[in-house]
Amino acid sequence: MSGIGSKGSDLIRRRERVVCRGVGQLSNMTAARASGGTITDLDGNTFIDFAGGIGVMNVGHCDPEVVAAIRDQAGALLHTCIHVATYEPYVALCEKLVEILPHGPNTKAMLTNSGAEAVENAIKIARQATGRPAVICFTGGFHGRTLLSTTLTSKVNYKIGCGPFAPEVYRLPYPVVRSGQQDDVVGISKRELARLRLALRDTVAANCVAAIIIELVQGEGGFFVAPPEYVRGLRDICDEFGIVLIFDEVQTGFARTSRWAAFEHYGVTPDLSTWAKSMGGGLPISAVLGKSDIMDRVAPGTLGGTYGGNPVACAAALATIRQIQSLDLNRRAEQSGQSIRSRFESIASRVTNVADVRGLGAMVAIEFAEGGDPAKPDGAVVKHIIDDCRERGLLLIAAGIDSNVIRILAPIAIADSDLQSGLDILEEVILARCSQTATARAAASTGA
Ligand SMILES: Cc1ncc(COP(=O)(O)O)c(C=O)c1O
Repeated sequence: MSGIGSKGSDLIRRRERVVCRGVGQLSNMTAARASGGTITDLDGNTFIDFAGGIGVMNVGHCDPEVVAAIRDQAGALLHTCIHVATYEPYVALCEKLVEILPHGPNTKAMLTNSGAEAVENAIKIARQATGRPAVICFTGGFHGRTLLSTTLTSKVNYKIGCGPFAPEVYRLPYPVVRSGQQDDVVGISKRELARLRLALRDTVAANCVAAIIIELVQGEGGFFVAPPEYVRGLRDICDEFGIVLIFDEVQTGFARTSRWAAFEHYGVTPDLSTWAKSMGGGLPISAVLGKSDIMDRVAPGTLGGTYGGNPVACAAALATIRQIQSLDLNRRAEQSGQSIRSRFESIASRVTNVADVRGLGAMVAIEFAEGGDPAKPDGAVVKHIIDDCRERGLLLIAAGIDSNVIRILAPIAIADSDLQSGLDILEEVILARCSQTATARAAASTGA
């Protein structure tokens, strides 16, 4: 692949003239159309997509059933606003969501437009339900780009100049466990739970804490998986102190971890949860789900918005859920996750600068660090790998506070041949880049 062509260059030039630079741009890639697990750019080059629009396209690009549902709904009802008139797709989607994602015996839902908006609303619900102000979140966490969700987000590069941030947000270390530390997982969980208990005495009083919000697998943070022992302990602490436990499943939901919800792997039910990305099959829609007694402790009129649960987006989400079922994407995620993981483990055994391979279901990542030492993150090599892969027709994105992690968010519906071709490219590029890096370092250390 020869890089960006003339049509792509023109569009990028037009973008630079009118789109402000704060809207980050990872590369000069363009997109004209997409199908299944591939994207074609304006100049006719086709890329295997391992980014999935940042975890949105689990069902595959332009799934025909999803597109048909969007067309049908668009011809019938585009918008009324749920506050003005009740329409079938909103209610049908909430019925489906509470059926597949029960939070105990009685579950209720509300619909919004983006992950950040779902997080905002979950916090508003928790605060009203408890009458308390404080929220506890975690290092490495990502919850969106509105002001409250930016406050909850950890990585400082996403927050430059955006303060003052929302008050009453407290951050604790995420229970980070790399694969080499699995023997110590109980110890790490105990240590971090003890730290939380201490924080409820020396940082913010338990009876001031409305909610604890956590990603069970950190998305932007680099696919760290919270240990079950820790998550069970978190549930106990929340029950003991009347704190609302919120799982942010925006990136982990809808088959990404081989279940509807990552929390199904844990046997722990949250009080509230947030959903977006792959729920809409490509249209903007998100949800807050929760135990009815918490969801209903909220004053009418304090939640919602003009577009939340737009009929066309609801129809897309309902078709997406049907397709996840009929294409058996949870099982496919399990299989593709194993395939990605074993490829990454094989790569890790052949180079010196892989610090970890980790993940859950099809949410698998490989972390790069000098000499494999996590204390020396190597974001530079990851940038080179991503650029080289794009040149060869594979689209990838990074993750991690130091952008030193390659995360796979390919559509779960990707054809196995595309998945394997993408992994072949990635493997060749990593081996080539890592051997160049090793040669350069050896030359530098000998002064050559
Ligand atoms: C876990 C998590 N929460 C919230 C968000 C914010 O979602 P959105 O970009 O749709 O606002 C993201 C986005 O990456 C996310 O990964």
